[in-house]
Amino acid sequence: MGNRYSATKTFGILTAGGDCPGLNAAIRGVCRAAYDRYGMNIVGIANGYLGLIQDNWRYLRPLDTYGILTRGGTILGASREKPFKTKKGESDSEIEGDKVQAIKDNYKKLNLDCLVVLGGNGTNTTGYRLSCEGLNVLGLPKTIDNDIVGTDRTFGFHSALAIGTEAIDRLHSTAQSHSRVIVIELMGHKAGWLALYAGIAGGGDVILLPEIPYNIKAIGRHLEQRAGEGKTYSIVVVAEGALSTAEAAMDKKERKKYRAETVHPSIGYRVAREIEEETGMETRATVLGYVQRGGIPSASDRVLATSLGTAAADLLAKGKYGRMVALIGDSIDSVDLSVPSGKVKNVPAGHYMLDTALAVGTCLGT
Ligand code: F6P
Repeated sequence: MGNRYSATKTFGILTAGGDCPGLNAAIRGVCRAAYDRYGMNIVGIANGYLGLIQDNWRYLRPLDTYGILTRGGTILGASREKPFKTKKGESDSEIEGDKVQAIKDNYKKLNLDCLVVLGGNGTNTTGYRLSCEGLNVLGLPKTIDNDIVGTDRTFGFHSALAIGTEAIDRLHSTAQSHSRVIVIELMGHKAGWLALYAGIAGGGDVILLPEIPYNIKAIGRHLEQRAGEGKTYSIVVVAEGALSTAEAAMDKKERKKYRAETVHPSIGYRVAREIEEETGMETRATVLGYVQRGGIPSASDRVLATSLGTAAADLLAKGKYGRMVALIGDSIDSVDLSVPSGKVKNVPAGHYMLDTALAVGTCLGT
């Protein structure tokens, strides 16, 4: 198609925050369309924002994005560097001084027309703040947590959901064999989408989300009622950020201290201990951890990531910056980068899936 919209533009691309399946598919989508359709130059920045601070980058050629559609992780590397955070211990960078200035300097030095950032809430928030500092930025929404405001879905979520669901499926048979309660902890520190979807898909008997503080007595009653009905085992799905009603009533400092004392090695284990104490039922805990973020993307994530990537290339060509590409209904569109900035998309009270779970007899911890 040639350079319909632009003479040769140059953009930088980086992946920041936790990795997820579909990042490489998205990189491929942006780069192929940008290169083949619009003839742009592409600078691949290493390890998220850290690479831009440390001047760590390389030109990406078409060959670099061949064969990566199905690969997990990110060929660019990732980090949790947050350049606007300067407090000790909150940054991956060892560079002293003004990181934001270093980013601006390197952006200028590389003659970038735009910086394309693939990431979650933190990454898109940083992208928005950089755009307020005068940089041209485009965001892509990735995370297994599905918690970005402005898009109906993030890539990475569908793959993690499939992994979480398969894990729950597998726990059913061992829980049944031993007549046990098995607690499975899934990721989701602030939002419970993954636990809710996987819990419903896998037929979890109890699902605990960060959005709905749980009462262990209500969980105990539910498990005992199931046992009374002759159901010899139960599966409890717990999001990483689940909390009790007592914790929900604490202020932030008090809660942090309480969790440091009681959440070990992680919340799934605490919930398992609480269930055993409350009911006397033999209970085990499983934490799925990083398995959820590893490996090949699902077909659905490959399609979403590719579509979002090519849409980002279109925005680059048109010079429509300061946007995050998004899935809205059945369309790929974009929203202003201020829309996701500083927010988390939680499971809202009254969401239809909460009622779905209750309607099939699942306890939500209350
Ligand atoms: O943001 C995605 C996520 O996988 C969360 O679900 C989880 O809380 C977090 O990352 C874990 O982060 P890290 O990679 O820093 O251990």
